[in-house]
Amino acid sequence: MENFVFQNATRIVFGRGAEESVGRETAAMARRVLLHFGGKSVKASGLLDRVKARLHEAGVAFEELGGVVPNPRLSLVREGIALCRKHRLEAVLAVGGGSVIDSSKAIALGVPYAGDVWDFYTRKAETKEALPVGVVLTIPAAGSESSGATVITNEDGWHKKDAGGDCLRPRFALMDPVLTFTLPPYQTACGAADIMAHVMERYFTRVKAVDFTDRLCEATLRTIVRNVPIALAKGDDYDARAEIMWAGTVAHNDLLGTGRVGDWATHMIEHEVSGIYDVAHGAGLAVLFPAWMTYVLRHDVERFAQFASRVFDVEHDYALNERTALEGIRRLRAFWKSIGLPGTLSEMGVGADRLDEMAMKCTESGTRGSFVQLAQADVRAILELAR
Ligand code: NZQ
Ligand code: ZN
Repeated sequence: MENFVFQNATRIVFGRGAEESVGRETAAMARRVLLHFGGKSVKASGLLDRVKARLHEAGVAFEELGGVVPNPRLSLVREGIALCRKHRLEAVLAVGGGSVIDSSKAIALGVPYAGDVWDFYTRKAETKEALPVGVVLTIPAAGSESSGATVITNEDGWHKKDAGGDCLRPRFALMDPVLTFTLPPYQTACGAADIMAHVMERYFTRVKAVDFTDRLCEATLRTIVRNVPIALAKGDDYDARAEIMWAGTVAHNDLLGTGRVGDWATHMIEHEVSGIYDVAHGAGLAVLFPAWMTYVLRHDVERFAQFASRVFDVEHDYALNERTALEGIRRLRAFWKSIGLPGTLSEMGVGADRLDEMAMKCTESGTRGSFVQLAQADVRAILELAR
């Protein structure tokens, strides 16, 4: 096991009615906030009005900025920064999913910084300081509610890039599984793929003697595999929704990565796909992860065979590790297909014409991944396998 420092400061308030404490939690963070949200869902569900009422009751002043889209855009982030400066807002309250939270974190980073906020994403500036961010979560998927990451798309060139730092971990996350009852099946499935991918990026490591976190990863994956079909069959199944929501946070709050070195190449490749084609991040991962697994399998067949037997109950044939491993990949693909996710890039409308461009953009700052270091040609080959 590797040495590690683990600190996750996000206060989680979980369960039915969790968002009712938004006034109190926000007032403890700031007196004047930017209320940031997405498109239709928070208005249609009445959540936005309830949040506003609680803020009024708690004496928290706010300005509103809606319109965050999936794969959130830099232009809206800039608008949010200007709004915060103009009204001297002290914090950002995100009501929504990963896109709203990431946009909120970007605004929080940009307000105290004299230069252009995109500098953090190109690594020209270091993430040291940000306004505090609070979250009311509406979709379990990205794990942004307690991660230190933000992912933003710059429309100028369609570059989708991340920035990260502990100062970006939200102060609090209010998580009521009931808020996820309204999720369309496809969003539930995309969220499931992202949650599983966050675990798998950490699971496929070269670090030895990581038995405890292997088991935590396997438990998290099995929880998703068991509960997502239940939530898809009955959208208002509280217990299934609660299992998925909590698993989604733990999948990406860095606990499961303690003592290990994660890979993250598949995420980086996916960001190129969703940056250009504006597909759902989870759908892109569902297509790319099996392709990555197939491509790197032979670097540690035993680990892939372990994944197959412990997560998908494949009978472990130790004499034929590779057969066991391949069956695990096949079952992962079959599971994702069974919950309505695409199996190939072409099913998502991604043609062959821009594979070179995506492979080039993905590796422009060097190789990707740590389980196996991928150069441009490797990324191109994985995209081809996913086609
Ligand atoms: O805009 P509205 O109308 O709210 O619709 C949203 C959106 O269309 C809808 N939705 C959310 N909650 C709902 C709901 N619809 C009905 N009922 C609800 N309760 O769902 C759609 C997707 O929302 P989005 O926020 O985009 O989803 P997600 O949480 O999957 O976030 C995806 C973004 O997060 C990034 C991804 O790259 C992508 O840009 N990621 C962020 C990470 C992080 N910060 O740590 C890590 C991840 O690996 C990921 O890269
Ligand atoms: Zn992800």
